[in-house]
Amino acid sequence: MRDTFPAQQRAETRIYRAPGRVNLIGEHTDYNDGFVMPAAIDFSTLVAISPRDDRTISVFSDNFREQVSFDLDDPAPQPKRHWSDYVRGVVVSLQQAGYEVRGSKLQVTGDVPIGSGLSSSAAIEVATGYALLERSGFDVDRIELATLCQRAENEFVGMRCGIMDQFVSCHGEKGRALLLDCRSLKYKTLALANETRLVICNTMVKHELAAGEYNKRRSECEQGVRYLSQRLLGARALRDVTSADLESHGRDLPDVIYRRCRHVINENARVLAAADALERGDNRDFGQLMDESHRSLRDDYEVSCEELDLMVELAKDLAGVYGARMTGGGFGGCTVNLVADDAVEEFKDQIARSYENKTGITPAIYVCSAAQGAQEVTPEFRS
Ligand code: GLA
Repeated sequence: MRDTFPAQQRAETRIYRAPGRVNLIGEHTDYNDGFVMPAAIDFSTLVAISPRDDRTISVFSDNFREQVSFDLDDPAPQPKRHWSDYVRGVVVSLQQAGYEVRGSKLQVTGDVPIGSGLSSSAAIEVATGYALLERSGFDVDRIELATLCQRAENEFVGMRCGIMDQFVSCHGEKGRALLLDCRSLKYKTLALANETRLVICNTMVKHELAAGEYNKRRSECEQGVRYLSQRLLGARALRDVTSADLESHGRDLPDVIYRRCRHVINENARVLAAADALERGDNRDFGQLMDESHRSLRDDYEVSCEELDLMVELAKDLAGVYGARMTGGGFGGCTVNLVADDAVEEFKDQIARSYENKTGITPAIYVCSAAQGAQEVTPEFRS
């Protein structure tokens, strides 16, 4: 991070880091109280923080080369549809939860590709929240931090996201994926197989409808739950409905709603089966579940797009690929591929070449490792 702090301030400057994520399986299940299996990745956002002696938060973004300031005592803070909404939303969310946030100078920089479905927004939220809580004198409870960052995005930014991204950005573990129950927020970590790598392929496209369609999917799921809960005792969320239940009680649902429910119900079952496959070291089973997940997201949930489908199809023709699927919210962004270690170099070259030949777009390919969640990373130079 470029050092723009004067010497005395530098002594008081601390740096916090929070990672982006890739989701291995369990897409659009988090806001249905279901299961997900994300891993934090080695792309992250850094927030340098130093105290101010007034009631202002000033924030400079290295990536956008822009400075924004706001008053901590503003009685009616409003979003501006601007990158700084993520920072401001977190401040508001902490304040609403009763935390007295101190005036601070923040400098933000990051390498999580923005708008690629790798959760750059969760990374900036969590790094900001962690930095502000600690530097305002509070202990950080990671579950609460994740929840407050999700609330910032739901209520201030206006994106009705689930808890997955913020949770894994707080709780990620090196070399491991998380199996998270989004209802209880209980999780366990699972070692990724040594002989495989997770390769992320960025289609480099982002379709405008992403946010609107995301919120629409949530409403469609809610509509499904309203109908099914009248027929199934105790069904509060799609998490509580089995595929047999859906067959016997959901046949009269409008077709779109029925298919949305079918995706979520089957995807939850796939996450649990995938956790089992990972524990048994069965890469083939795991890969097949990834393939099924993609088909279901494409056909039943309808959140894929031409470029994502193409990237998945291209991967399937290559040697050493166990499975491939879109990852994240959809409508562009990235695919995640489980690839045998010794096939990775060839995979990277070939998929990049074929995708570019077909679309004219040069994709970005990242071979990623599962990384640690949010932490302080202040370097030694601090006196
Ligand atoms: C986005 C949201 C998450 C989750 C995924 C889809 O990343 O932020 O909460 O719903 O989409 O699985």
